[in-house]
Amino acid sequence: MRIDIITIFPEFFSVLDVSLVGKARLSGLIDLRVLNLRDHTHDRHHTVDDTPYGGGAGMVMKPEPWGEAIDGILANVKVNPDVAVAAVADAERPRDAGPLLIFPSPAGELFTQAMARELAQEPNLIFGCGRYEGIDQRVFDHFAQAGRVRLVSLGDYVLNGGEVAVMAMIEAVGRLIPGVVGNPESLVEESHEDGLLEYPSYTKPAAWRGLEVPPVLLSGNHGVIATWRRGQQLERTARVRPDLLPPAN
Ligand code: ADE
Repeated sequence: MRIDIITIFPEFFSVLDVSLVGKARLSGLIDLRVLNLRDHTHDRHHTVDDTPYGGGAGMVMKPEPWGEAIDGILANVKVNPDVAVAAVADAERPRDAGPLLIFPSPAGELFTQAMARELAQEPNLIFGCGRYEGIDQRVFDHFAQAGRVRLVSLGDYVLNGGEVAVMAMIEAVGRLIPGVVGNPESLVEESHEDGLLEYPSYTKPAAWRGLEVPPVLLSGNHGVIATWRRGQQLERTARVRPDLLPPAN
């Protein structure tokens, strides 16, 4: 998968050199490039923002640097012919021959495990990190005319910019790309994969600071253990995240 990130803080993304995503980059599973939006400004101060039309607090990111930066990426990302063919068959995604543009925003649709699974199928993702009060709306409208644009929110809270949100999305998506996580089975039994929170986990020693591992886990009876774990998932989900449970009839 190729991932392009546009930001005014490229140094944020040095953490993507480490851990599983870092390994995936080294092995070529993820081709990740970070681009400085200010490289697409042409004034002495490398200005990326201006005051909002209509008044109001804060600054808005100007459209021109975004237009130039995204045009540059689109010009050198090859269209994947498999995706282009799939696009013809898929009425939902009629223009789906090119990269998917994602802008993190508290005004976007909610990022979920289901969306992470969807994004992991894409050959090219472009993330645009907004700052200040956001990006001029015409950037989204322009690129949506000929391609796919999604505004995506991490949750109902406000970050100072899109960088941390993009990092979270890349971590969630990257680990679903085949080969990135060594043991694919470990992806199956996790929180949110089956719509429930995951069960509690324990390792050695069997007793620690007076706390014992639940005896059922030492029983060696896999059927009983599976039933216990399912019960723990249901109990935990009902207690912490009842909104995830299907409505009772
Ligand atoms: N940028 C600012 N707040 C955000 C949020 N909650 N999710 C994604 N991007 C953001």
